[in-house]
Amino acid sequence: MLQTELGDITKINDVEAIVNAANKSLMGGGGVDGAIHRAAGPELLEETKKLGGCETGDAKISRGYNLPVDHVIHTVGPIWNGGNSEEAALLARCYRRSLEVAMDNGIKKIAFPSISTGVYHFPVDQAASIAVDEVRKVISEQPEAFELIKWILFDEETKAAYDAALNE
Ligand code: APR
Repeated sequence: MLQTELGDITKINDVEAIVNAANKSLMGGGGVDGAIHRAAGPELLEETKKLGGCETGDAKISRGYNLPVDHVIHTVGPIWNGGNSEEAALLARCYRRSLEVAMDNGIKKIAFPSISTGVYHFPVDQAASIAVDEVRKVISEQPEAFELIKWILFDEETKAAYDAALNE
């Protein structure tokens, strides 16, 4: 059920939705946000700019357009600020809200990037533990809701952090 994979999340075609590590404007950006918008094409921005932005810790859904998946769930991770600004709780909420939006839309197979650990500088090992713990909590509350949840990691070091968290 819970897996990790090294790769580019815009190429994943065995899930119904991929999660985007967006910013509050939902108007695109760099990193995985930029890659998803480039791969999906301009219609994605046409839709996301009508969503009215997204609060940190929340998630909103759009179509996938030219991506090989039907949906993109856009979530906004916390910017790391030393760890005393509720970053852990907000990151956990990104995963919970993304899974809730997936359930609301009948999505049972979903792929996450490593939310907040790039431009937002969240320490990878802590982020991985928070991510895996929160996803496990949601699955235990909703045991029938998902068939596949995976993380698509862009480098070996990040993948090792999530593999370690899954083995905890
Ligand atoms: N597939 C999978 N993972 C990717 C890809 C990709 N194509 N491109 C980048 N990543 C990885 C990064 O290597 C990092 O491990 O996604 C993780 C998250 O990094 P960012 O994309 O920088 O996201 P984040 O740290 O959450 O910062 C969000 O960056 O791009 C802007 O608009 C975005 O303002 C927002 C901020």
